[in-house]
Amino acid sequence: MEKILISLKDKSYPVYVGNSILEQLTYLVDGHNLPKNIFVIVDESLMDVWGPKIKNIFFDENYKRHLYFLKPGEHSKSYLELNKIYSSLINNNFGRDTLIAAVGGGVTGDLAGFAASTFMRGVNLIQVPTTLLAMVDSSIGGKTGINFSKTKNMIGTFYQPQFVFIDTKFLDTLPQKELLSGLGEVIKYAYLSDENFYSFVKKNFDKLIRKENESINYVVTKSAIIKASVVSHDEKESGLRQILNLGHTFAHAFETELNFKIKHGEAVIAGIISAIYLSRNMNIVNDSTLTNLISLTAKVKLPKQLAKINFENVYKIMLLDKKNRNGRIKFVLIKNIGEVLLGVESGKPEIFSALKMMINFISKESSNNWI
Ligand SMILES: NC(=O)c1ccc[n+]([C@@H]2O[C@H](COP(=O)([O-])OP(=O)(O)OC[C@H]3O[C@@H](n4cnc5c(N)ncnc54)[C@H](O)[C@@H]3O)[C@@H](O)[C@H]2O)c1
Repeated sequence: MEKILISLKDKSYPVYVGNSILEQLTYLVDGHNLPKNIFVIVDESLMDVWGPKIKNIFFDENYKRHLYFLKPGEHSKSYLELNKIYSSLINNNFGRDTLIAAVGGGVTGDLAGFAASTFMRGVNLIQVPTTLLAMVDSSIGGKTGINFSKTKNMIGTFYQPQFVFIDTKFLDTLPQKELLSGLGEVIKYAYLSDENFYSFVKKNFDKLIRKENESINYVVTKSAIIKASVVSHDEKESGLRQILNLGHTFAHAFETELNFKIKHGEAVIAGIISAIYLSRNMNIVNDSTLTNLISLTAKVKLPKQLAKINFENVYKIMLLDKKNRNGRIKFVLIKNIGEVLLGVESGKPEIFSALKMMINFISKESSNNWI
C-alpha cells in the first residue's frame, strides 16, 4: 500500500493507495484514533457486488455502525438528500464524535463531505472513492458540495478528510463509460506533469482502457501524487490550483450545452483539445509542439453529440464562468507538457476557430473517430 501525504497549513493527511486492501480500512481508522461511531454513506449500486465486503468493514462490537444507502446519480447531490442524511444521523443518535465514511464516486464524496463539514459544526470524514474520477480527482483536495437551483456545486465547503483510502479493486466493476470519464482527468494530469508520465499514458492507453492492473495502479498513484502536490501548494484555489482547470472552461460549457448527456471526462478531453488549438491560435505553441500535444487525445473515442454544439451558446455559457472578470473569458492554456499559462484572455474569433478545429480533429484526424 502506497502512502501519499497532503501537506496543508492547518492539517496534513495521507492518501492510501493499493489493490484489494479494503480489509485494512478498519485498522487504519483505529490507527488514526478516529471515532468508533461510524456513519457510512454508500452508493447503493455498489451493494450488489461489493455488499458483503462493505458490510464487513467496521463490523465488530467495538463499533457503532450505520449504513446509509445513497441512490446513484447526480440528482442525489441535493439539499433534499442532505436533509435525509441529517435526519438519519440524528434519528440514529450520532453526535459530535461521529466519523462519516463516504464510499462511492464523486457524487457520494461531495455530498458526504458537505454533510460531514456541516453536521454539528463539523465531524470527522474519510473518503473511500470507488470510481476512477473520484480516486484521481474528487476525493483529494477537500472540495465538497451540493447542486442547487439547477447549478452544479452551487453550495459547498472546503473540508479536508482524515484520510483518503483508494482501493483500485473497486474499478473491476466500473463501466467503460465511467472509466473513460476518469481517464479524462488522468489525461489532464499527463499534460500537467512531465514527458515521462505523458509518454506512459500515451503508450499504455489501450491497457488503461482494458483496466490492466499494473498500468491502472500506476496512473492512479501518479495522478493522486500530482493532485496532492497541487493542493498542498494552494488549498483554496487562489493560484496554482487553477492549473487543474486545464480544458475545464470549455468542458463545463460543453456539458451545459449538451444538457449533461456526455460524461464529464469526455467533455474534459474535448476541452483539452480545444485549449490546445486555442493555444496554437494565440501563438503560444508552434506547429511541431502542437503535433506532439494533440497526439495523446487522438487515442480517445468521443461522443458524436459534441459535433452538434452551437458555438454561440458555448461562448455565452463560458462568459458566465465564475472565474471571469470584466466580461472577458479566462482560459488555462498550454505551452508544452508541464508548462501551462493561467488566466489567458482570448477573443471570440480565436475561440470559435479552436472549437472548429477540435471538431475537425475528432472527425477526421483521430484514428478512432466518434462513438
Ligand atoms: N470535489 C471535487 O473536487 C470534484 C472534482 C471533480 C468532480 N466532482 C464531482 O464528482 C461527481 C462525479 O463523480 P463520478 O464520476 O465518480 O460520479 P458518480 O459518483 O455519479 O459515479 C458514477 C457512476 O458509477 C457508479 N459507481 C461508482 N463506483 C462504482 C464501482 N466501483 N463499480 C460500478 N459502478 C460504480 C455510480 O453508481 C454512478 O452510477 C460530480 O458531481 C462532480 O461535480 C467533484
